[in-house]
Amino acid sequence: MNNIVECHSLGFSYAEGDKKTAVLNNLDFVLSPGETVAVLGKSGCGKSTLLNLIGGLDQPSSGKILVNGTNISQINEESRTQLRAKTFGFVYQFHHLLNDFSSLYNVGLPLLIQGDNKYSALSQAKELLTRVGLEHRINHKPSELSGGERQRVAIARSIITKPECLLADEPTGNLDTTNSDEVLELILELNKDNISSLLVVTHDRAIANKMDRIVTLENQKLSIS
Ligand SMILES: Nc1ncnc2c1ncn2[C@@H]1O[C@H](COP(=O)(O)OP(=O)(O)O)[C@@H](O)[C@H]1O
Ligand SMILES: [Mg+2]
Repeated sequence: MNNIVECHSLGFSYAEGDKKTAVLNNLDFVLSPGETVAVLGKSGCGKSTLLNLIGGLDQPSSGKILVNGTNISQINEESRTQLRAKTFGFVYQFHHLLNDFSSLYNVGLPLLIQGDNKYSALSQAKELLTRVGLEHRINHKPSELSGGERQRVAIARSIITKPECLLADEPTGNLDTTNSDEVLELILELNKDNISSLLVVTHDRAIANKMDRIVTLENQKLSIS
């Protein structure tokens, strides 16, 4: 079986005019199927940059990234979008839900975009919202939910397409301790149910300790902690 993600000698710099900001250099990393890994590191060290590269939202400046054995720089934009949608679910620090839509539509949207029929998409969305404890909030819009509830909707949305790997960027960074613990437990449970991989960026060691493995990003590279 292929690894979910392989980064080989990965390098990345942000370029603005003639100003270059080097963020990652010669970074190697492997994520295998079903594995849960935390990326620790100080603010500004490049954790989000790494996740965006792995998720195909940015292109490496050097080196390569394989997703399920495919070099994502060597396929066209359309294939990359398909591979990304099939492989990854994304959860961010801020929920990025659509404010004009109910929880039900926010969660069902990835399936509607894939072309599933409305009945099927919305019934799966309802099932998942029930699974994350929000059956009584399916018709609420994001502004009518608490921070923890919004994050649970975002998690339901991220896994509705049954991705092989969840990429989570400080998923509890905006929550108080109680909500943060609940959301993390939920992510871990769902991950077990779906036997998917999890790559979670955090600066919280307590969260990191719940993963199979911890790596630390510093000096533009990952090291094992
Ligand atoms: N669009 C950008 N242009 C230039 N520099 C950026 C950009 N985005 C992030 N950076 C810089 O890259 C570094 C890594 O950022 P980021 O990956 O967001 O760090 P982290 O997620 O670990 O806090 C930071 O020093 C940041 O200032
Ligand atoms: Mg970040």
